[in-house]
Amino acid sequence: MLPLGTLDELPSDYRDALTREHLVPLWPSLRNVLPPAKPIPRTQPACWRYQAVRPLLLQAGELTPMEKAERRVLVLANPGHGLEKMQASAAIYLGMQLLMPGEWAPAHRHTPNAVRMIVEGEGAYTTVEGEKCPMQRGDLILTPSGLWHEHGHDGKDPVVWLDVLDLPLVHYLETSYVQEGQAQTVAAGGSERGYRSGGVVPAPMFVRTQQRYPMLRYPWAEVRASLLALATRSPAEQAVQLAYVNPESGEDCQNILGYSALMLRPGETLQLPARSPAMVLHVIEGAASVVAADASFALGQADTCCVPGYVPVRLRNASASEAAFLFVADESPLHRKLGLYEVRQHG
Ligand SMILES: [Fe+2]
Repeated sequence: MLPLGTLDELPSDYRDALTREHLVPLWPSLRNVLPPAKPIPRTQPACWRYQAVRPLLLQAGELTPMEKAERRVLVLANPGHGLEKMQASAAIYLGMQLLMPGEWAPAHRHTPNAVRMIVEGEGAYTTVEGEKCPMQRGDLILTPSGLWHEHGHDGKDPVVWLDVLDLPLVHYLETSYVQEGQAQTVAAGGSERGYRSGGVVPAPMFVRTQQRYPMLRYPWAEVRASLLALATRSPAEQAVQLAYVNPESGEDCQNILGYSALMLRPGETLQLPARSPAMVLHVIEGAASVVAADASFALGQADTCCVPGYVPVRLRNASASEAAFLFVADESPLHRKLGLYEVRQHG
């Protein structure tokens, strides 16, 4: 490709005239917005160790009462985007949230979709549209766009969870806002009990639910058992991975980001092809190494990393005797809907 003209080559009075008319020459920036062969991502491979995050989060609990924080969160910000942008990738926001015993995070609802992956602690709950969802380690709880949610904590120890939102995209689209609400009345809940077994769904008198989000909590105990069962029947070369989906439709459980649970067999190495979406990996149990682009991370339990799109990723279970379990979040639903999803077998 031929080098294009630069801004500096243009006379200053011409540039000033353009600026006055709110005009910009395309050619000096053309290669940035349309780079050859593959994108130039801002998203960098980045890693956040729970051992480093946890004491700072607990310190936030001492420094800032809930009344002054509303949600006590430390954002896992990718340096490639600039920390102030508070984003892990183009579409993914990550935050570690702390709730201390007796605290309550008041009800609100917002346009960005959120999920919570519970990292540590017992006794907290999230109430979503009147359904009280207990929070236990490894559980995934959905708080989709527009659904009321609040958090409470009846236990004795701090509870921490990883928030994953599509906030960067929704904010970029100028569609991000929140509404405050009253404490919710808790109704008989347990949506996960209605969808306890794969392949069967509630159908009282032949009527299937029309709810967009029929299942709000995916208990880790059941997902883990399903992974172990799947591992017994999967060929060795096939990844043991389960997607979190809407059990009524089989579609992604949310509109913009996709979520799955991945089991690495003892000693297993998985080579993932270069895919267009950025991806977040969080260790629920065990330890794994992640190699992406020029970066390499050794992840222990509760550690989190982010890798950009368009790079191959190699995952390896660090243990030869124990399985490792990872929570995966990525931008696949968004890329598929936009017709941008791409897999490159050869990088
Ligand atoms: Fe929220």
